[in-house]
Amino acid sequence: MAAPYRVFVTRDLPGDGFAALRDDSEFDLDVWPEDFPPPRQALLRRVKGSDALVCLITDQIDVEVLDAAGNQLKVVSQMAVGVDNVDVAACGERGIPVGNTPGVLTETTADMAWALILASARRVVEAAEYVKAGEWQTWTPTQMAGVDVHGATLGVIGFGAIGQAIARRAQGFGMRVLCWNRTPRPDQAAAVGAQQRPFDEVLSRSDFVAVSVALTNETRGLIDAAALAQMHPGSILINTARGPIVDEQALVDALQRGHLGGAGLDVTAVEPLSMDSPLLQMNNVVVLPHIGSASMATRSKMADIAVANLRAGLAGRPLPHPVSPVVSA
Ligand code: NAP
Ligand code: GLV
Repeated sequence: MAAPYRVFVTRDLPGDGFAALRDDSEFDLDVWPEDFPPPRQALLRRVKGSDALVCLITDQIDVEVLDAAGNQLKVVSQMAVGVDNVDVAACGERGIPVGNTPGVLTETTADMAWALILASARRVVEAAEYVKAGEWQTWTPTQMAGVDVHGATLGVIGFGAIGQAIARRAQGFGMRVLCWNRTPRPDQAAAVGAQQRPFDEVLSRSDFVAVSVALTNETRGLIDAAALAQMHPGSILINTARGPIVDEQALVDALQRGHLGGAGLDVTAVEPLSMDSPLLQMNNVVVLPHIGSASMATRSKMADIAVANLRAGLAGRPLPHPVSPVVSA
């Protein structure tokens, strides 16, 4: 019998696919046992000699890790749709396919963008904290009054799967939806009643701007001071994509000046967000710990896809969800 494939998995995963992998004698699994990611030196040590690597957004998979793994590495399978933590080009140059987990998390993440839209507009977190703090004494005409979501204008920056799903939900709220995407997507926009507009116009005309582009060299800092200044006074920024797409210091400035009405952030430039961040001092800012796709059902489906990518990569078959074609060495 052939020696089992050695697989390093940087965290224990949910789902039936991973449970089956554990029971399969074809695989020799090394699963990092802690909730915290493996420290850099542990990652470099544990990946050595692996045929496959299953990783998460918290693991930096770069040339050093690929070198540490060795030439036998056949596939990198990331349990996430975003792969900005993986040097995909370096993997490609070595003929190592990279897999991700798109699609199954689209609706769950769009739900979370909407949780942030509603929470920010209607001061839900602030009001719940107010009640818990025993400050609720009476009802007043303007107590915890926020802004309306229904009938407002939603701008979606990045009209990929999640951006479209965020836009689709806006129909139920009777909203006008504007969208911007690098690649024009007229059919998808029409399908959800959205209007494609130039980047600046989406910013300047929207009451809520939801960011849903992938993080790349081109989108890092896309929402910078100039972009924030384009947003109209009192509008609210929602980010469920990646923190570094927004210039966080510029966001803090725009909020402190009162130019923006609030922000709902599932992601921050550095995660976890420092407890010193001024964002945590602002009542009109809701920060969540990057839980956009965090329903048990969705996380299990993501893990199943990560396992399917892993199995395909080890068998030399095309991955069900490849990030990009492998460049032959
Ligand atoms: P997707 O369908 O692949 O959409 C990616 C979007 O990013 C598209 O609009 C794409 O535009 C745009 N994009 C990619 N590269 C770009 C570039 N260089 N310049 C401008 N736009 C660019 O992915 P998705 O499923 O919607 O996910 C979007 C992102 O959300 C992920 O990459 C991930 O970072 C984030 N996410 C976060 C959570 C969470 O837990 N908060 C969960 C899932 C995903 P084109 O159409 O022009 O390519
Ligand atoms: C989560 O952030 C993902 O990219 O799937």
